[in-house]
Amino acid sequence: MRHRLIVPGAAAVCLLLAIPASAAEPTPGAPGVGDSYYPDSGNGGYHVSHYDLRLKYQPKTDKLEGTATLLATTTQDLSRFNLDFLLDVNEVLVNGKKATFAKSGVHELEITPSAALPKGKDISVVVRYSGTPSQVKVNNFTAWYRTPDGAVVAQEPEAAAWWFPSNDHPTDKATFDISVSVPDGYQTVSNGILGSQTSKLGWTRYNWRSAKPQATYLTTLAVGKFDITQDTTANGLPVLNAYSKDLGDNAPAVRASVERTGEIIDWESSLFGPYPFTAVGGYVPNVKTGYALETQTRPYYSPSSFANGANTSLIVHELAHQWFGDSVSVKDWKNIWINEGFATYAQWLWSEKEGEGTTQELADYIYNGVPADNVFWTVKPGDPGADKQFDRAVYDRGALALQALRTKVGDKTFFEILQGWTAANKYGNASVQDFTTFAEKVSGKPLAQLFDTWLFATSKPAVSPNATDTA
Ligand code: ARG
Ligand code: ZN
Repeated sequence: MRHRLIVPGAAAVCLLLAIPASAAEPTPGAPGVGDSYYPDSGNGGYHVSHYDLRLKYQPKTDKLEGTATLLATTTQDLSRFNLDFLLDVNEVLVNGKKATFAKSGVHELEITPSAALPKGKDISVVVRYSGTPSQVKVNNFTAWYRTPDGAVVAQEPEAAAWWFPSNDHPTDKATFDISVSVPDGYQTVSNGILGSQTSKLGWTRYNWRSAKPQATYLTTLAVGKFDITQDTTANGLPVLNAYSKDLGDNAPAVRASVERTGEIIDWESSLFGPYPFTAVGGYVPNVKTGYALETQTRPYYSPSSFANGANTSLIVHELAHQWFGDSVSVKDWKNIWINEGFATYAQWLWSEKEGEGTTQELADYIYNGVPADNVFWTVKPGDPGADKQFDRAVYDRGALALQALRTKVGDKTFFEILQGWTAANKYGNASVQDFTTFAEKVSGKPLAQLFDTWLFATSKPAVSPNATDTA
């Protein structure tokens, strides 16, 4: 019946429209990558390969000034394109030539180059900017927090727009050089390796390099008065930890936890496969916020997480994210389970190793302890919704899903799946569906019903994830 749609004369019309591809009209890049939860996150029309950030920060006034140089490649013929950014822009150059720019939407910076950019072209974008990031509020929120001696930026899913212009979505990862000048006596903390420092005219410049693909939200910066410790792990990986000099009574518990980073990363490497990055560590500014974040190579921790003494489980969680979240990142924020379910399961494995309860015991503790009418069982870890992205169910029910998988396929296959997953998707992006398909392939077992029960059902599963007759 399809031929009935072809009207007489259509062939002739097609010929007239068959103009050469090179003459296609350049069009604007999309203002978002089409994320299910955050449609305006990231942008279309190009991919960034590298960010060079050259910044100057005055803690006393919260004044940030900088120049960002982005290396990117166009993926369509572009008349203009967007970056995601919130601070004041003074000048934009594209391929060394002045471009016009305008703010639009919540955090869009629209850049129109002096001439259209053809598809597949390597471009450089220079953005000169300044601002007072803690004053820039979106829905009364800022990801940039001032501390008594400086500032810190670490948030998920969005933080970058408060301090550098970017393609702000985990599907566009890039390498980073971050150079920050601060008044003498202050230190900075960022991702990767700390190069040499120079001091002149009362300002000290710190140069940080993160040489493996890194998502924008995992890119971090802290300025303050820090004690910095440096060492290498038993496997020879450089470790750099940074502690605010002002952690009060929590200081010993913080150090007793974060100083175990090297030991924990070597242990996790034995379970999840080779560590994907070239440096590791952790940092603890004196903030009041209570969460932690798996900022790449160097997670961010809050002092309050150590108020009851050492909290190695938290270190285990954030370091497990280096594989699950940072190296293998979400394709879409609805896939958050491939981050949080796995990082939580790593904590259970640590508990078992430390003799504080096996993964089986912890799974039954949750399964038996949370009644069927609890809202916990209504949250789908496989697609929790933007407002429930970091709900307890994504973490704990998400880990129950992995326990159910382990019960079903056995220990050997389970760890083959985990290691195969981190290897196959290293530095890439993946979805929940990609994982379930991968687990079926490696195990040779149909697992659709199991994952449906543990990741997508909105009621309490009929049997414990330890039951061998589980779905
Ligand atoms: N990925 C982080 C973690 O589980 C969660 C951060 C949640 N963000 C927040 N502001 N609470 O370690
Ligand atoms: Zn987490």
